[in-house]
Amino acid sequence: MSGDNSFVVVANRLPVDLHTAPDGTRTWTPSPGGLVAALSPVLERQQGCWVGWPGIADEAPEPFRTDAGVLLHPVRLTAADFEGFYEGFSNATLWPLYHDLIVTPVYDRDWWAAYRDVNLRFATEVAEVAAEGATVWVQDYQLQLLPGILRQLRPDLRIGFFLHIPFPGADLFRQLPWREEIIRGLCGADLIGFHLESGARNFLDLARRSGVEIDDAQVGAFPISIDPGSLGTGEPGGVEKLRESLGNPATVILGVDRLDYTKGILQRLLAVEELLESGALDPDQVVLIQIATPSRERIDQYQVARSQVEEAVGRINGRFGSVGHPVVHYLHQSLPKDELRTYYEAADVMLVTPFKDGMNLVAKEYVACHGDGSGALVLSEFAGAAVELHQANLCNPFDLESIKRALATAVTGLAQQPEVMRERMLAMHRQVHEHDVTRWADSFLTALEARR
Ligand code: G6P
Repeated sequence: MSGDNSFVVVANRLPVDLHTAPDGTRTWTPSPGGLVAALSPVLERQQGCWVGWPGIADEAPEPFRTDAGVLLHPVRLTAADFEGFYEGFSNATLWPLYHDLIVTPVYDRDWWAAYRDVNLRFATEVAEVAAEGATVWVQDYQLQLLPGILRQLRPDLRIGFFLHIPFPGADLFRQLPWREEIIRGLCGADLIGFHLESGARNFLDLARRSGVEIDDAQVGAFPISIDPGSLGTGEPGGVEKLRESLGNPATVILGVDRLDYTKGILQRLLAVEELLESGALDPDQVVLIQIATPSRERIDQYQVARSQVEEAVGRINGRFGSVGHPVVHYLHQSLPKDELRTYYEAADVMLVTPFKDGMNLVAKEYVACHGDGSGALVLSEFAGAAVELHQANLCNPFDLESIKRALATAVTGLAQQPEVMRERMLAMHRQVHEHDVTRWADSFLTALEARR
């Protein structure tokens, strides 16, 4: 039972989602999130195979090759898998648990059974497509049992695992009724990667406490990054056009996130509202653009987060906008990369204020678009990116006063200390360019190679 792919990436999602319109027309669109953005260039370079779900229940089109030469191998999830494995265990149990209980995780035995089944199914598919001795790179929290299962099915494979979200402290993780199974599943990998040293340490500590044999070299920190080249060049004159369409405000503030309760979108709106209220921001001079990509829309907590955000947008515009000039421009849509680049370039201040985030590639994308040293980044201390981008205007997203301070300091800093701000942006830009996604993938794969 083996295929002919010597490099296989397996992630819950394929880099594209299949959409079927009511008239039966099918289209593929890029799928959301940082994981896909980071791994696509790696797979293209290696001309490898990507095993994943096509983003729609009960569909598994035949494998096909993309224009960039990547073989996509769809895995079918039923509507029941979608509920139990994806919406349930992955996104209503693990997601909130790993993001430090921003909402309360639900522990449901049926969801756990679905998670085990789907991990087994993914493992079986990978075992079929991977060549003898192939390297298999398993991605993220949806597939934590896969390394262990695959190790049993195919002991010849070299298996890496990378977690794209934070790994919680032992006291939180130990809530999970199936904690031992998850740890053993992960330990099937030759190398387990985290963004930060703290995640790696937490994991080593837990594995040892669970009596699993593990050595330090089996675990490592590999902070993920972006491919600055994939951001395109932007439309010539696009920035001027965009600013003009906004009424040429003195300051453009930008937020770009999946609409997720971990991202702190409401808190940042409240911070802006209070600054408008106190007069620290002038509604005639400032515009906030918030792009919120639709995500996991059927899950209760996501619906709550969306209504709170939309209510706040309406209230702020009602209070401080005027006809034809809203203060907050809110898009509940996903935008193509080259359009996004224009927004990044146009933004004087980027607001990235998650309560908790594995890395946050939006922060790095913004910095990558400001090679001229312009702009300012307001960044949560609890985003993994804060370790590398420490020259940002850091804030505590749980403290409204701290977000307000960081935003106000960024705005006044740009006006009063442009040289200082420029130096800070340039330092961050160098960091992102020198530590790009290729370097991330190479360092992980080199460490994986050294393991066997
Ligand atoms: C985060 C996760 C990814 C996930 C993405 C989009 O970046 O780390 O694993 O694919 O969000 O979420 P979704 O549920 O739409 O796949």
